[in-house]
Amino acid sequence: MSTNTATLPVGRYAYDQIDRTFLSQRVAQFREQVNRRIAGHLTEDEFKPLRLMNGLYLQLHAYMLRVAIPYGMLGADQMRALAHIARTYDRDYGHFTTRQNMQFNWIRLEDTPDILERLADVDMHAIQTSGNCIRNVTCDEFAGAAADELLDPRIHAEILRQWSTLHPEFAFLPRKFKIAISGSPQDRVAARFHDIGLVARPGPQGRPVFDVFVGGGLGRTPIIGVLLRDNLPEEDLVAYLEAIVRVYNAYGRRDNMYKARIKILVQALGVETFREKVDAEFALMNRADYRLEPDIVAGIRARFGIPALDAPADAADTLAAGRKADPAFDRWVRTNTHPHRHPGFTSVVISIKPDGGIPGDVTADQMDVIADLADGWSFGEIRVTHMQNVVLGHVRKDRLHELWRRLVAAGLGTPNIGLVGDIIACPGLDYCSLANARSIPIAQKLSARFASPELQERIGRLHINISGCINACGHHHAGHIGILGVDKRGEEFFQLTLGGSAGNDVAIGQIIGPALPEDETVDAIARLIDAYLVLRTEGEQFIDTYRRLGAASFKDAVYASA
Ligand code: HEM
Ligand code: SF4
Repeated sequence: MSTNTATLPVGRYAYDQIDRTFLSQRVAQFREQVNRRIAGHLTEDEFKPLRLMNGLYLQLHAYMLRVAIPYGMLGADQMRALAHIARTYDRDYGHFTTRQNMQFNWIRLEDTPDILERLADVDMHAIQTSGNCIRNVTCDEFAGAAADELLDPRIHAEILRQWSTLHPEFAFLPRKFKIAISGSPQDRVAARFHDIGLVARPGPQGRPVFDVFVGGGLGRTPIIGVLLRDNLPEEDLVAYLEAIVRVYNAYGRRDNMYKARIKILVQALGVETFREKVDAEFALMNRADYRLEPDIVAGIRARFGIPALDAPADAADTLAAGRKADPAFDRWVRTNTHPHRHPGFTSVVISIKPDGGIPGDVTADQMDVIADLADGWSFGEIRVTHMQNVVLGHVRKDRLHELWRRLVAAGLGTPNIGLVGDIIACPGLDYCSLANARSIPIAQKLSARFASPELQERIGRLHINISGCINACGHHHAGHIGILGVDKRGEEFFQLTLGGSAGNDVAIGQIIGPALPEDETVDAIARLIDAYLVLRTEGEQFIDTYRRLGAASFKDAVYASA
């Protein structure tokens, strides 16, 4: 394959004229619909399905626009467009979500067509970011860069994006449908917490094969997905997924929103029966219509710009010397970088979780800084992670120190990735109309409490996930420590779960006891972490200690009176 960095944006799929025409037609159509709403020709009820098709929600205080970032890949130009939107149409910031999207919280209805037009200028949109359809396909944030990667999952994520976008049969599924794909043996996409989770690797003759997990999810009924099919050949990927979604579309419950997800169907039928139905559907299909021939896949792959990875032989030595000379830099390299497949490069995780900050919130100026740094250091390529951080995929090791200094200057150098400050939080009662409690202040207080980088490193790997209600947008079930907002007679309370994990050691956290009042929650978690520091043995991380000892030892700490 030729290196095509000269003509194509690195990392993301290059749209062609057909894609662009489609997007501008959708913007024009929506402009018309908004005009009719403003003129009063459409009621809010009539308008609702139309706006949701363009990712426009009505929240507690304002409209909220959810912008799709396909499998988390962005170009610097696209990030600048997001910055422009934040500055011009919002309150100077945006919010990265756990589904690799961006949300704008303070949008005016009359501005949305212009916003969508600005997005379309840079090949972006908000289509299928809402509604009962197949949503943004999520992907490993280190795709195409990670040292441990077996197969670049973006190519198949893009194929699935094309298959699912405006799929005529799947526009009105029983409920929203989420697909995640990983090409590494380390699950970095929470594959088993998705409606469909795909884990790809090379099979016979190097052609990809897929393990297909189905029926995972969070929400009020958290369920770990089951392996429906292993070693699915690449050529059958689309046909098999289509068969799964058809079965779900036919049998999924439409009478009860709370029982509508595929996870409930798989549980109700039993995985064996579900598999039989999928296999029967698969057998009936004309598979030739869906077959992913190698040349189709190669055609998609060819539209992804590839970085020209070229580093001086001593790049790693330069980095090592820089680390020795500067302990703060050394710490950040330890916590915020990820091994790259090229020995002269590394992937950098930019923490969008400053001490005391709001997880995932990024200002327009910071977006511009990130775009500039991506241009200068990472081929103009940016990724958004499901942990609500940002990744520069390919940074030359000898240029890392300068990058770090720039990040620190922009307030983006917090060394906390994977540590207690790297909190996932949903918008909660500050914005969300479904919330029971405010997630953001708890996240801020915890992150301020554990601001010391020395303390964070001493505590080690620890994921705190916070949701403002049972819908679990903040993945609380999958946190080592999960925090769930509950409403008790109009007061905000928080329930703690322990032992959840979204990785290869996937687990659903267990509730440890009664919910705590807001003003006691942070102290209780601090006591819990103190207890772990006392109880752990050499080399243990929080999750290991919890699994070794069980909940009891921690329960005492949580409910001990201060
Ligand atoms: C503010 C507007 C939002 C609304 C109205 C909303 C609504 C919901 C609802 C109703 C569910 C439960 C779905 C179900 O299990 O059937 C849900 C789940 C979820 N939401 Fe949100 N959400 C919002 C914002 C967010 C944000 C900001 C994020 C990311 C930070 C997010 C990510 C998720 C995830 C990951 C799930 C779990 C999905 C699963 O069970 O597979 N949502 N949301
Ligand atoms: S978990 Fe609840 S409060 Fe938080 S964003 Fe989702 S629906 Fe809103």
